[in-house]
Amino acid sequence: MTSSLQQAEHALIVQIEPWVDEMELQQLRRVIDSTFLVEHELTREFESWTARYTGAKHAVAVCNGSMALFTCLKVLGIGPGDEVIVPNLTFIASANAVILAGATPVLCEVREDTFCIDVARAEELVTSRTRAVMPVHLYGQSADLDAVTAFARRHGLKVVEDAAEGIGVRYDGQHVGTVGDMGIISYYGNKTVTCGEGGIILTNDDDLARAAFRMKNYGRDQKGIYSHDTIGFNFSFTDLQAAIGIAQMKKLPAIISKKEAIHKRYVRGLQPLATFCPVYIDPKCEPVFWFSSFLCECPEALATFLRARGVQTRRLFLPLHQQPCYADGKHVRMPRPDFRISESIHQRGISLPSSYSLTDDQQSYVIDQIHQFYAGRD
Ligand SMILES: Cc1ncc(COP(=O)(O)O)c(C=O)c1O
Repeated sequence: MTSSLQQAEHALIVQIEPWVDEMELQQLRRVIDSTFLVEHELTREFESWTARYTGAKHAVAVCNGSMALFTCLKVLGIGPGDEVIVPNLTFIASANAVILAGATPVLCEVREDTFCIDVARAEELVTSRTRAVMPVHLYGQSADLDAVTAFARRHGLKVVEDAAEGIGVRYDGQHVGTVGDMGIISYYGNKTVTCGEGGIILTNDDDLARAAFRMKNYGRDQKGIYSHDTIGFNFSFTDLQAAIGIAQMKKLPAIISKKEAIHKRYVRGLQPLATFCPVYIDPKCEPVFWFSSFLCECPEALATFLRARGVQTRRLFLPLHQQPCYADGKHVRMPRPDFRISESIHQRGISLPSSYSLTDDQQSYVIDQIHQFYAGRD
């Protein structure tokens, strides 16, 4: 096996990188030949791919996942004076979309096992202003959508699913993002499949799909006309993104299988370390191991140790209640500020190299280095 120093001097084993090659180039050539670099027919084709794959009736492509979330909230009529219940452990974009819509995110603790929203805790957060709940399907796991749906029904709330990280993830056989009123997927560069930047809105409701298209298309139903029925913006996709996205969707089954194999190999290889604990998978969830994430002891020291040996890792999200930008208390509400679980997940969490390109030798090296780190601490 390569020595640690040799590894550090040569290629870095990255935590995540997309799988892009000739297939994307071939699709891009179609766009260049057509001269339609902007959103056009290939975007419609990409939307059809995504709708077919997820089973959603409608898929509306927008510039990124953040604007997809914002658009969902706006077309559901959520704005100033309204509250949206958001899990405390998520990427900050989930809550910031609510703030951009003029509403207030109300932070809810997550479950220790799945890292996703704890619906039992959400019960305590409902007020007369609550309009929606935003389950986030974190790290390739699904939130408990049965519980979310029942909770939303009990309180007359809309459900906006943040499935930014969730392409391929199913809950009780249904693709995440298609269970609530609206859902979104992100195609950012580090996601399971990517367009560089990109997002898609999923819904089974004809009116919401039309309203979402209008909102991202300057408030009109078609391109090229100058009468605008509603106030809209420009959150357009491009055919350049669609070209890459179509190639990526063709690769998706292979990427998902590889990520599952990577995760299983980490679980097997790290099992002897009592400290290393994989995320629990809800029996109703078919996960996609977008990032292979674990809870362990001393993840920061482990990350530094691995980095010095040529292995890149990533820590799990900093909980929202600890975000410096929310410290003034003006933007989010946290009526039950006991977030010991999300704090503990953050403090113990690490994501290991999880790219499609990860070779068996590289993964063996990563596992071996992790064993060496903990052996040195005995
Ligand atoms: C949970 C979650 N929500 C929202 C987003 C925002 O998506 P985008 O980066 O495409 O704006 C991301 C990350 O990219 C995310 O991980």
